[in-house]
Amino acid sequence: MSKIPELSIMMVGHVDHGKTTLLERLSGKWTDTHSEELKRGITIRLGYATIETKTRKLSFIDAPGHETLMATMLSGAAIADAAILLVAANEDCPQPQTKEHLMALEIIGIKKIIIVQNKIDLVSKEDALKNHKQIKDFIKGTIAEKAPIIPISAQHNINIDALQETIEKEFPTPKRDNKKDPLFLIARSFDINKPGTEIKNIQGGVLGGAMKQGILKVDEEVEIKPGLKTEKGYKPIITKITNLISGDLKVKELAPGGSSGIATSLDPSIVKADQLTGNILGKVGKLPPVWEKLILKTTLLKRIVGAKDDLVVDPIKKGEPLMLNVSSAVTIGVVTDIKKGKIQANLKIPICAEKTDRVTISRRLGTRWRLIGYAEIEE
Ligand code: GTP
Ligand code: MG
Repeated sequence: MSKIPELSIMMVGHVDHGKTTLLERLSGKWTDTHSEELKRGITIRLGYATIETKTRKLSFIDAPGHETLMATMLSGAAIADAAILLVAANEDCPQPQTKEHLMALEIIGIKKIIIVQNKIDLVSKEDALKNHKQIKDFIKGTIAEKAPIIPISAQHNINIDALQETIEKEFPTPKRDNKKDPLFLIARSFDINKPGTEIKNIQGGVLGGAMKQGILKVDEEVEIKPGLKTEKGYKPIITKITNLISGDLKVKELAPGGSSGIATSLDPSIVKADQLTGNILGKVGKLPPVWEKLILKTTLLKRIVGAKDDLVVDPIKKGEPLMLNVSSAVTIGVVTDIKKGKIQANLKIPICAEKTDRVTISRRLGTRWRLIGYAEIEE
């Protein structure tokens, strides 16, 4: 039996609907550990946990549901194979981020979805059925139209076994093409040394994220792009893999399937505090191109889905700053030109991306970034 996670499942849905509670129920681990998360009682960063079922290991990513944290949700979705959309039974469905997260899954192309109707302990049977009907109406015509809806109470441990069975049935381990050039999406980067560590004992920088494709091996020399900012623009980084971690196991080879870690020989100071988030790691000379500006073929949504008010999406304007998410990277693109369904944007931070990668577009409305559409890279 393989002890390496075989797929990544992401918890998504509106704030407070119970994503982190459910993940704790499934994995035994409370993933909100950051001080600000504990203080505010919401998830802020992506949480990671691994569970072992009868047949395999699964890796979970817990997304924040707060409306200001869409960029984090989107970067997590870039490494997920499947998603569990939580809907609280004691609120009307859909809430704004219920809609926005489902739209994001659709845009990114995550088709394997289970809907969890949570908090059934708080409602009567009649209200639970009414809420079920609202969910059904909401998913009609979306990619989740055929998704099973499992009523549970994460907090009171009701019907969790039915959910576990549904996960086994609906989320088979995807077939992977491991012959492709390896690509590792960097979601986090950190310095694991305690302050005051003697120089001879210092360990190199550690990268957290997920393999998108291919296989990486210990001792391999690898490249990271776009890399580090210098006076002459961004410069790729070359380093060596010293250790690989899959789930919580040290491994010799890293393949797609779960959240993983790469220990490198990098100077910890250049990786600390997530400085390499959004970069891509792969074989030297085999990484996708780095883009400083993009021409995008855009598709805009008709309406803004993530806000309480029902707003129409106005056309993109010249000079407008847009938030662009590609894989686990996020950047701001300032629109310099517009022509019939195409825009040109200069990127504040360059991105490393395949031409076929989906770009999600968000616009600043008031104090929030709202998902307004998606794009394909033209050049
Ligand atoms: P964000 O990450 O901030 O989007 O929230 P979340 O979706 O992770 O919600 P979280 O798990 O933090 O739960 C929010 C609140 O709902 C907490 O007070 C939980 O105890 C409570 N809660 C979660 N599941 C249930 C449930 O099944 N029943 C009841 N009654 N409360 C629940
Ligand atoms: Mg949470």
